[in-house]
Amino acid sequence: MADLVTPFAVRTAATLRLADIVQDGELPLDEIAKRSGAEADPLGRVLRYLVRRGLFTEPEPDVFGPNEASRALQADAPGGSREWLDLDGAVGRADLAFVELVEQVRGHHAAYPAAFGRSFREDLAHDPQLSDSFDDLMETKSDELAPAIAAAVPWERFGRVTDVGGGKGVLLAELLERHPDLLGTLVDLSGPAGTAEGYLESRGVRDRAEVVVGDFFDPLPPGADAYVLCDVLGDWEDADAVRLLGRCAEAAGADGREGSVLIIELLPDQDGEFTEMDLRMMVYVGGRMRDLDRTERIVGAAGLFIASVTMLDDGHGVIECLPDR
Ligand SMILES: C[S@@+](CC[C@H](N)C(=O)[O-])C[C@H]1O[C@@H](n2cnc3c(N)ncnc32)[C@H](O)[C@@H]1O
Repeated sequence: MADLVTPFAVRTAATLRLADIVQDGELPLDEIAKRSGAEADPLGRVLRYLVRRGLFTEPEPDVFGPNEASRALQADAPGGSREWLDLDGAVGRADLAFVELVEQVRGHHAAYPAAFGRSFREDLAHDPQLSDSFDDLMETKSDELAPAIAAAVPWERFGRVTDVGGGKGVLLAELLERHPDLLGTLVDLSGPAGTAEGYLESRGVRDRAEVVVGDFFDPLPPGADAYVLCDVLGDWEDADAVRLLGRCAEAAGADGREGSVLIIELLPDQDGEFTEMDLRMMVYVGGRMRDLDRTERIVGAAGLFIASVTMLDDGHGVIECLPDR
């Protein structure tokens, strides 16, 4: 449970794209080193260790090949696990901040800025490669989640949906594609919002989608029938989450309307994914995951109440909130 050798060896393989390099068959170590931009001797030592752990094969000395386990690390594998483990990508790199977990738990300092000198959000704002890798990961995650969200809620009862912190627009595109009468707005920072323009175009729904570059702690575009926060609230501690919900409630209630606020977040489960994500949020961004009781408290503090909860198979809940008048 406490071994660090295997996770770092696997992440080294993922970062160097070794599974992709050998996907078509066995290759000599020197060739793998050349294609991955690595030194042959240390690379061979990592590969030999991984073979003993069941990842890759070594059919003859210094020749390595693929196996079922390595195929899961290929770029085209479902779920994109290579990207999550890539030490050059935003999340794989953020995992390295766990070395500071003990100091965060002692109350000495936040883990991520202590590890990297600035916050996760500052890193994304200043490093386009990290920011693009993060948006791509969110796209991979949303590609799996969006169809389930689209099927779980009768979206046709809304005229306009605003996806707050909507990233590249995967969820919004799914909703607009399925509901030809629906209009959409996406609000996000300039990087993801810029990418969303092209993405929504590529999905053929750009004519029904408005993309707004903005800070979601500022007033949101008013008048939509539903404001969606998908995997957004967990990035924030309670006070900020209440501020953000307050912005959604204010926009949903503009001109005396009674729009909905839909929170989509992972809820507590049996297999520990919720608690793992809770630690990740704490270490990466100082955020937190919330069970329904805690969600109810922040929702109430923002002048809303929970009207319904719809569970999805993957452990996310769609929590619909209405104004508490
Ligand atoms: C965890 S991602 C979730 C993206 C998307 N909702 C999804 O489920 O894939 C959080 C999103 O919030 C956006 N975000 C963070 N801070 C923001 C801010 N102050 N104003 C607007 N968007 C922000 C990020 O750019 C990112 O797209």
